[in-house]
Parts: sequence; structure tokens; C-alpha cells
Amino acid sequence: GARPGLGLRRAARGAARGAAPVQLSAGAPRETVVAVSAGLLGAFQFGYALGVLNAPQDVICASLGISPVRWATVVSAFGPAGLVGAQLAGGLTRALGPKAVLLRAARLFLVGSTLQAFAAAAPAPAAFWVLLLGRAMSGVGAGLATVGVPVFLGECAPLSQRGAFGSLHQFGVVFGILAAQLLGLALSTARGWRYLFVAPAALALAQLVAAPLLLDSPARLAAAGRPADAKALLRRIRPAAAPRAEIDAELAALNAEAASAARSGSSASVLAAARVSPAVRRALLLGLLLMVSQQLSGVNAIFFYSTSIFHTAGLRSPAVGTLVTGVVNVLSTGAAVALVERAGRRPLLLCAICGMCVCALALTALLGAGAGAPASASLVVVCASIAFFEIGLGGIPWMIGNELFPPSCRPSGMALCAAVNWLATTLVALGFPLLQARLGPNCFLPFAACLALSFVLVRAGLPETKGRTVEQTQAALLRA
Ligand code: GLC
Repeated sequence: GARPGLGLRRAARGAARGAAPVQLSAGAPRETVVAVSAGLLGAFQFGYALGVLNAPQDVICASLGISPVRWATVVSAFGPAGLVGAQLAGGLTRALGPKAVLLRAARLFLVGSTLQAFAAAAPAPAAFWVLLLGRAMSGVGAGLATVGVPVFLGECAPLSQRGAFGSLHQFGVVFGILAAQLLGLALSTARGWRYLFVAPAALALAQLVAAPLLLDSPARLAAAGRPADAKALLRRIRPAAAPRAEIDAELAALNAEAASAARSGSSASVLAAARVSPAVRRALLLGLLLMVSQQLSGVNAIFFYSTSIFHTAGLRSPAVGTLVTGVVNVLSTGAAVALVERAGRRPLLLCAICGMCVCALALTALLGAGAGAPASASLVVVCASIAFFEIGLGGIPWMIGNELFPPSCRPSGMALCAAVNWLATTLVALGFPLLQARLGPNCFLPFAACLALSFVLVRAGLPETKGRTVEQTQAALLRA
């Protein structure tokens, strides 16, 4: 591959010393900030869809005459649909760029949410199918977004801000979850619930109207043999103060990558690339490890079942407890965006994993003590667990593919990691009620064990990626 120029290496060293504060608006041109904001709507939609069906279960089932089993089918259809979307996103991102992927996601959110809003208008037996189809379409859209948004943010970001830009994806997600929780409290009524789906449909329409604000992809332009266009685009979207050498080096790396991808032909697929390159193999294993660690931390056991956990713990108002978790989630994600360029990815991940493991053990003790423990203690431990999660495990696994994979197989690598994330999310969603039934108060112990194992593996295998070019990271992976 290309050797990064001196300017880029100097910038990388500067960032590696921890000097780079988050300055999305001060450092980046206005056009980039606007594009990033428009791109984040896709992450918001993903988070909103994750949370939207929690509160209105009873009213929707009653007004559409849907049985609990059929309701569970609608809720859990999101996972497999997201998996399909994530898989499709790899090829689409490579061929058309992340902007096109985000627009397809927005169209799916528009049609999917509209179908869900109008399910009530369909005759009784059809209502279930309309709801299911709408949920599945939103799921495919969310799958596309979980690849498209992080790739898009990674391409908009200058090297020294890549982690902060990438972490904004998770910020969009948690805002979406909180919005769904708040609207869910307000609109879970016999007539109100359909507006829970009108909201994301309107947002998707806004996304489509805002489409011209999204930027094209420099990597795609270089890969399509249009280096001059790629260069012009990079000049526009990098900070005005960025040294020319830095942009030239970035472009040279993209062109060299495109040339070597064209020569080898097959390396667009991460699995093919991993067979020939030990560094790509390690990158892929680490990307997958982080996705699996994220989900087997049990975070979604909390998000999907917090109301029942708080109920077991004896909290007087479980719904309010759930809302508190949503607020803690947003605040701690904000802290993560601010910290990721200072502390680096590795310390934040290790701190998150360790903290969550301790919280899982504490929660086990509290649930075991039953009425002997104050109910508010379980709320405090659950909130601490979420705060630890968002400091490292929430955002970094989604964006770190930008730093681990070389550009040619990056879309394919990030799509595979995202698909595995969707699979693990589905397993936890379906499996946690079984764990609760089998293990009772010990239902968080399996998560504690997985976290302990992740700690060992991440500590041993993950090099710091902050401020490093992908080339430097690939070299570090070979040494690890
Ligand atoms: C991450 C996870 C998602 C989880 C969310 C909670 O985005 O991928 O599964 O629900 O964080 O904030």
C-alpha cells in the first residue's frame, strides 16, 4: 500500500499524544457539519425503532386484536430484518457509497413506518401482516443504517477527529431510544399509538428532502478511477487549516488502495482479504469480538426488559426507572464523544468492560437479596452499568471498523461485523427471558462471565487505533 506522507504522520503523532479536543464545528467546514447532522438522522431512526415498541404493547394488541405470540413475532422481526439490511449494506456501500445506502435506508423507514401507522386501518386479520411487514421494512432500513452511518461519518472525519465523529453514531442512536421512550409514555393510548409511527415517517421524509446535503464518498470516487474528483471533495470537507500534505497523503493512500484492489480483484470481500492478509484477519476477528462483547455485555437485556427487571427488584414505578436509564444513556454517550479522542479507544473499552462486569455481579447480589435490598439500589446499579457501557462498548464497536480495515474491504468488513451484532442482539432478545426463567436472580451471571472473557481478549489483542492511519494500525496488528 501507499506510504503516508510526512504531514500525515506528524498529524497522527500529534493526535496520538492526546492533544486533539473535540471541535466538530470549529475544526470542520460548515458543509461537513451539516452533512454529518443529516447522516445522523439514520442513527436516530435505528435507536427509535429499537425502543418504540416497548411502551405501547398493550394498547396496540388490544386495538388490532393481536395475540401475545403474534406481538412477539412483530417485535423480534426487527433482528433478522436488520441482519439482512446489514449484509446488503456491504455491497451497496462499496458500489454506490454510503450516501446512497443512507437514502435507501430512509426510503425503507418511510414506507415501513407508514405501514405500521396505518395497520389500524386494515381489516382485522390483515392488520397483523401490515404491522409485521412495516416492522420488517424498518428493520432492513436500520440494518443499512448501522453500516452506512458509521462508514459515512468515518469518511467525513479528518484523522484527528475520526473517533469523535464515529462516536456520534451512537449519540444519534441513544437520542432515538430516548425519544421513543418519551413519546411512548405520552402516546400509548388507544388512538395515540399510531402517531408513534407517524413521527419516524415524517423524519424519513425530512431525511429524503435533506439528501442533497449529504456528501459523496472520496473512497468510492477513488475506487471508480476519479482521483481528481476525490481530491476536490477532500479539499472541500477537510478543515481549512489542514496541511495540504495531509490531504495529499490521504488521497495517495486512497488511490494506492484502489489500484491494489483493482489488481487483486477479490479483496473487496473481507473474507477473501482475510485469507491472504494476516492483518485483515486480525482486524476482522477484533471487529467481531467487539460486536459480540457489546451484545453479550447484556445491555439489551436491560434495554428490552428493564421494566420487568425493576418490577422484580420491587421498584415502585418501573416505567419511570426505564426513563431514567434513557437519560443516563444519553448523558454518558455525550461523555464518550468528548473522551474518545483524549483517552483513546483501548482504555475506554477496557474500563467499560470491567465496570459492566462489576455491575453485573452487583446486580446479581441485589436480585438474590430480593426484598432484603432497597429497590433503588438496583436502579443505581443498572444506571452505572449503562454509563460504563456507553463510555466504551456503545459507540466504539460500531465505528472502529473505519480504523481497522483497509478501505477496499472496509464496507464488507463493517457489514459482516454489523450482521453479527444483529445476530447477537436477536439471541439476547430471545434468550434473556429463558435465562430469567432458568437462573432467576442469577440471570446476569452469564453476562459477567462473557465480560470477563472479553476483557482478557481485548487487552491481549487490540492495539490503540487513535490518531493512527489504517496502515499504521495494520502494521500494529501484525505486531500484536
Ligand atoms: C448500541 C447497541 C444497541 C443498544 C444501544 C444502547 O447501539 O448496538 O444494541 O441497544 O447501544 O444504547
